[in-house]
Amino acid sequence: MPIEAYVIVSANGMLADKTGIMPDALKFPADQSFFESALDSADLIIHGRHSHEDQKRSAERRRVVLTSRVPTLAKDGTHPLSTLWNPAGATFEEACAAAGVGTTGRIAVIGGPAVYEIFLDRYDAFWLSQAHQVNIEDGHGVFPGVPASTPQQILTSHGLRAAEHRVLDAAADVDLTAWRRA
Ligand SMILES: NC(=O)c1ccc[n+]([C@@H]2O[C@H](COP(=O)([O-])OP(=O)(O)OC[C@H]3O[C@@H](n4cnc5c(N)ncnc54)[C@H](OP(=O)(O)O)[C@@H]3O)[C@@H](O)[C@H]2O)c1
Repeated sequence: MPIEAYVIVSANGMLADKTGIMPDALKFPADQSFFESALDSADLIIHGRHSHEDQKRSAERRRVVLTSRVPTLAKDGTHPLSTLWNPAGATFEEACAAAGVGTTGRIAVIGGPAVYEIFLDRYDAFWLSQAHQVNIEDGHGVFPGVPASTPQQILTSHGLRAAEHRVLDAAADVDLTAWRRA
């Protein structure tokens, strides 16, 4: 099953501020539009309990939410298309099956840091948007190893290489790079 990830980070690799919130400084229409289209074409979205994407078609999307509040897998009583998953108690393949997505389904991983890290050796593509004029002091890095290492160094160390590159917002110096398995 193809696994792709999506994130926007600051110049220093942060996806959220020191309070754990994604600041407005990281919200750009071109990036949000790219992100929304990507999720529309995914069969299953994977994220941690605090990283729901909160978009207008969110309720229509099948998702698996990581949490330690269940021992293995459970239906999320509040969202019919949502499955709760504790990786300590069930495999990723079991989580996909419980969510009703088979081996050919397209998976979109959307964070946060611990969740991005789990799939580092499995990504087919990691879509890294970066706002080069935004610095977030004492924030939350896209991976637990940031800022000791840059996101690019971590992706490289897991066998991914920079491929397509696109400018999303020239005035704000925001770009997008697809990191693909070599
Ligand atoms: N800039 C971006 O593109 C971007 C992308 C993603 C997220 N964000 C932002 O980052 C912030 C969220 O970050 P966060 O660190 O709180 O991440 P998160 O992964 O959304 O939420 C963390 C929670 O997810 C669960 N979880 C994660 N990994 C788990 C594991 N291996 N096993 C069991 N449960 C696990 C835990 O829930 P329980 O407490 O229930 O056990 C944990 O408390 C939000 O503000 C979000 O908007 C920004």
